[in-house]
Amino acid sequence: MGATVVVGTQWGDEGKGKIIDILASRADLICRYQGGNNAGHTVVVGGEEHTFHLIPSGILHEGKTCVIGNGVVIDPEALVQEIEGVESHGTVTSGRLFVSDRSHVIMSYHKVLDQVIDEQRGKGKIGTTGRGIGTAYMDKTARIGIRMCDFLDEETFREKVQIALEEKNDLLEKLYSYDMERPSAQEVFEKYRDYADRLREFTTDTSVLINDALAGGKQVLFEGAQGTMLDVDFGTYPYVTSSNPVAGGAATGTGVGPTRIDRVVGVVKAYTTRVGEGPFPTELSGELADRLRNAGPIGEYGRTTGRPRRCGWFDAVVVRHAARVNGLDYLALTRLDILDVLDSIKVCVGYECGGKKVTGFPPLLRMLVGCTPVYEEVEGWKEPTVGARSYGDLPEGARKYVERLSELVGVPVGLISVGPGREETIELKDMMRP
Ligand code: GDP
Ligand code: IMO
Ligand code: MG
Repeated sequence: MGATVVVGTQWGDEGKGKIIDILASRADLICRYQGGNNAGHTVVVGGEEHTFHLIPSGILHEGKTCVIGNGVVIDPEALVQEIEGVESHGTVTSGRLFVSDRSHVIMSYHKVLDQVIDEQRGKGKIGTTGRGIGTAYMDKTARIGIRMCDFLDEETFREKVQIALEEKNDLLEKLYSYDMERPSAQEVFEKYRDYADRLREFTTDTSVLINDALAGGKQVLFEGAQGTMLDVDFGTYPYVTSSNPVAGGAATGTGVGPTRIDRVVGVVKAYTTRVGEGPFPTELSGELADRLRNAGPIGEYGRTTGRPRRCGWFDAVVVRHAARVNGLDYLALTRLDILDVLDSIKVCVGYECGGKKVTGFPPLLRMLVGCTPVYEEVEGWKEPTVGARSYGDLPEGARKYVERLSELVGVPVGLISVGPGREETIELKDMMRP
């Protein structure tokens, strides 16, 4: 038996998709546990790029079971499109993909509300993906959400849509002065009925499926979306997403007890990026930021919204915080190759806040804004790393950089990624074993 959680340690887009794809070759079941189609996970195989938003990044490995757990919020329209997309590439989903009957559904009004609410925040906007993620989770915790099992039951769905629409239409018109044509419950019902019919065959009690797999000695991988600094409890609140990307979320988001989880892998970029608004202590601007954004075969542009990602130096305060709240066993370090061209590289080792040195990540935004990063500077190695397939192939400077990051974070590095392709990888440890 073995269960491994893969989490993002920064603000998302660390390269989780690539790491999941690699580990999936040794897993039997791969499961998403939170978030929704705000995620964009890229896998590159044989030069071809695949981006997944809801379907686990293990789907390209024939015969592996892929699960979307109860903690995920599902836009039925997006999921049906994604299923059709992967099937058009010859990937079979029937009998391999399973969706939790307890996961919550994102409806069209969740998307409109998400966009309207964020717009009305004005200067304080979060810069959400506009996919209705936060508003669907709001309904879940307010106990007025529609779950997949409700969605598939015509009578329950019709009743729930009726109640929800009255409330949402009123909210949009009266509170947010949103000018719109009021959709009728019948229209919404009709639109979604086809999606319900398409998704019926995939929907089941996935907690039973995963627990049975573990009891039968199978290897299970839990695929986190977003990252620790976007976690609603441990991130840069309120500039966060509305779920728990941290490793603990894998238990509540799939119906697997914490006693069944064996290890946690933290995916970490060799520098830092962020999409959307919110604090980012080591953020760069100008030419250096542009260089980081545009270096390498795939630049730093959001896979879901196409927005340019903000770029900055590696922040050890952030990743140390992630190591603690996730209980990281290994780091999977990605995009090391992006730093190949730099003359010198900075690493943030702590913050100075009001004349005091701080080593933990401050929760109070007002305090964080007043913090300045304390940097260590190392010389660049100025050699390509993309062809390296063993640790010894890396230039000495790159090895020193990797070792320093691991030392600062206090977690061993199990894998180094030097390009987007599957093979552009150096595996130091089998991270799915103790
Ligand atoms: P995720 O959301 O964590 O799965 O990450 P994204 O897919 O949004 O962004 C990571 C990007 O980096 C993708 O375009 C990957 O193909 C790419 N990538 C992953 N690892 C590496 C690497 O080691 N080097 C380079 N150059 N690109 C990488
Ligand atoms: P992956 O899984 C990077 C960001 C949004 C916004 C904030 C809240 O690809 O790493 P939301 O729509 O979730 O309410 O937006 O979170 N965000 C991400 N940033 N990678 C992601 O996913 C993200 N998912 C959400 O940009 O700042
Ligand atoms: Mg992404």
